[in-house]
Amino acid sequence: LSRLFFTYQGIPYPVTMCTSETFQAMDTFEARSDDIVLASYPKCGSNWILHIVSELIFAVSKKKYECPEFPVLECGDSEKYQRMKQFPSPRILTTHLHYDKLPGSILEHKVKILVIFRNPKDTAVSFFHFHNDVPDIPSYASWDEFFRQFMKGQVSWGSYFDFAINWNKHLDNENVKFILYEDLKENLTTGIKQIAEFFGFSVTGEQIQTISAQSTFQAMREKSQETHGAVGPFLFRKGEVGDWKNLFSETQNQEMDEKFQELLTGTPLGVKLKY
Ligand code: PPS
Repeated sequence: LSRLFFTYQGIPYPVTMCTSETFQAMDTFEARSDDIVLASYPKCGSNWILHIVSELIFAVSKKKYECPEFPVLECGDSEKYQRMKQFPSPRILTTHLHYDKLPGSILEHKVKILVIFRNPKDTAVSFFHFHNDVPDIPSYASWDEFFRQFMKGQVSWGSYFDFAINWNKHLDNENVKFILYEDLKENLTTGIKQIAEFFGFSVTGEQIQTISAQSTFQAMREKSQETHGAVGPFLFRKGEVGDWKNLFSETQNQEMDEKFQELLTGTPLGVKLKY
């Protein structure tokens, strides 16, 4: 599988989605203070919050938010940052990058960043299924093999734990808000309200209810082919908390708990994550 990754500044990225030219060109990205950044490790719910924020923009502007580009900041061709100069505000950018690897312009403009985290066990299981379900990306011989690579950080976008450690240092920044997949799942309406407040979208209770109804897993899965094409049903696979119990062995469970304790217990994220 190693030939399917290229490493840039110490992190493996999928060769099918990222190139070093794009990473180099990313330095030329010019942020605007009203840009919206949605950050997450893969499979933590980025498409979910992208949908919610797009619906909030629609609620306040009455204009449907269309992503003019594939929304992941670090993916695509190296010319994209030039094209993005023409896009109307607000621009939504999603990313799986560490805070420290974001283009300097985003940090200088103190762009608001919403980060979504999900417990590492469900994240790993979702990531495994994605690799093995989607025809065009590399599959793993077994769950055990994927688990081994995930724990070593030898998967696309690198280690979940490195990502969490890096973001942990910035979660109290004024322009950063973090939410948990598990909290959003438990109370979608409250989560949407918090997201609206953070970005300064003033919406009515009725609008929140409408967005909430459109943002359930069922609602998003039903429309997934329309919104995401053939990959849709794989992207909106199960949408549950605790699916890890179907794949983790007792030993793997212990290994993950130990790693979590060693690296995240007591950190801002470590105290909040639930699974
Ligand atoms: S990706 O490929 O990294 O962009 O994937 P990402 O969108 O971050 O995460 C995909 C997982 O999020 C689940 N999801 C949802 N769960 C609950 N409710 C809603 N509305 C929702 N939308 C997406 C999706 O089902 C993937 O998780 P799994 O466990 O695989 O189902």
